[in-house]
Amino acid sequence: MNINEIKKDFLIFNNQDIVYLDNGATTQKPIQVIKAIEEYYKKYNANPHRGAYTLSMKSTQIYEETRAKIAKFINAKHNEEIIFSKNSTESLNLIAYSYGMDKLKKDDEVVISIMEHHSNLVPWQKICKATESQLKYMYINENFEIPDEEIEKKITDKTKIVGITHISNVLGTINNIEKIIKYAHKKGAIVILDASQSIPHTKIDVQKLDADFVVFSGHKMLAPLGIGVMYGKKEILNKMNPFLMGGDMIEYVYEQETTFAPLPNKFEAGTQNVEAVVGLGAAIDYINNLGYDKIQEIEKQVVSYARQELSKLDYITLYMTKNEENHSGVISFNINGVHPHDIASILDSKGICVRSGNHCAQPLMRYLGIDSTCRASFCFYNNKEDVDKLINGLNLAYNMFKKYIKN
Ligand code: ALA
Repeated sequence: MNINEIKKDFLIFNNQDIVYLDNGATTQKPIQVIKAIEEYYKKYNANPHRGAYTLSMKSTQIYEETRAKIAKFINAKHNEEIIFSKNSTESLNLIAYSYGMDKLKKDDEVVISIMEHHSNLVPWQKICKATESQLKYMYINENFEIPDEEIEKKITDKTKIVGITHISNVLGTINNIEKIIKYAHKKGAIVILDASQSIPHTKIDVQKLDADFVVFSGHKMLAPLGIGVMYGKKEILNKMNPFLMGGDMIEYVYEQETTFAPLPNKFEAGTQNVEAVVGLGAAIDYINNLGYDKIQEIEKQVVSYARQELSKLDYITLYMTKNEENHSGVISFNINGVHPHDIASILDSKGICVRSGNHCAQPLMRYLGIDSTCRASFCFYNNKEDVDKLINGLNLAYNMFKKYIKN
């Protein structure tokens, strides 16, 4: 399948002339996902797990079959290790409040990286304060990577939890998670992997990685907004308390006491977002049909070209590793002396969508000594023409602003 055929699956590109380079924020949705949701509403809509009638049982079946599909997709050992959430943020809060709050004791340490998204940072600030444990950071070097020595310096016998993003949503750096997971386990800590920016681009095999928790959001991998996944090892999940209380996560409820349902229901209180679960199932089918090999082949070419062309612009600063092998499809940059929101507005006037701001990573921005960046993030439906349009847009912005730029 060539790139132009792929693009036809994404109807948003058929109706308007846009260059969509904000895939790190959310991807566009293929027709197959939209149709699956439509079919669900036309034929099967009912509240799962709550009816003894055929339609509800069908809805339950679809919901549980998708759980099994996700388990297979990330090679989880058990279907009940897959917990549906709203997004990665909710998954991370679940882990922080349910696991962190219970397990951390005074002077224990939680280690995260300076490139974490606020969702894998702010919950830990709160839990560490509440449990009187310490929050420590692994910092990056001048090549925007976490050096091995930093991993070994920060993860110690005191570390109980390590939270790490697989790929930075700002820098695109692919972290050495194999090393981090192995080292953390050696020190007796558990590891939470934020795969939000990686799972759209690369195979996640939870058994091979051996991470204790893995979280991701559906909407960054072609699925609808409002659906996320928390994977956790069964033996850990079984020992955890529920996070949200309410319907369907209980076994018996008395006036003063409640016993909880077994996995996975224990962590899925309230009516679930079944349409988005259906959409996530269809998104996984789409990724499986295209295949990660093909996805990587396309993205490698486009991102490599973008790196090369952006590097030729002497008026921009790029925040990315020199090591192409360690870099995913996220490129942050600034035109020196021009606010990123102004650049983004000029690009928008040419139909080019990039994100500008702090990207929910203020500590990283502060560490880099900047307030914000512009960010272009790629998906397999982007092509070299998109990159050329980005470069033309940047030249336009620079020419508009250069007379105001102080040297
Ligand atoms: N976390 C998303 C991003 O990086 C929203 O843009």
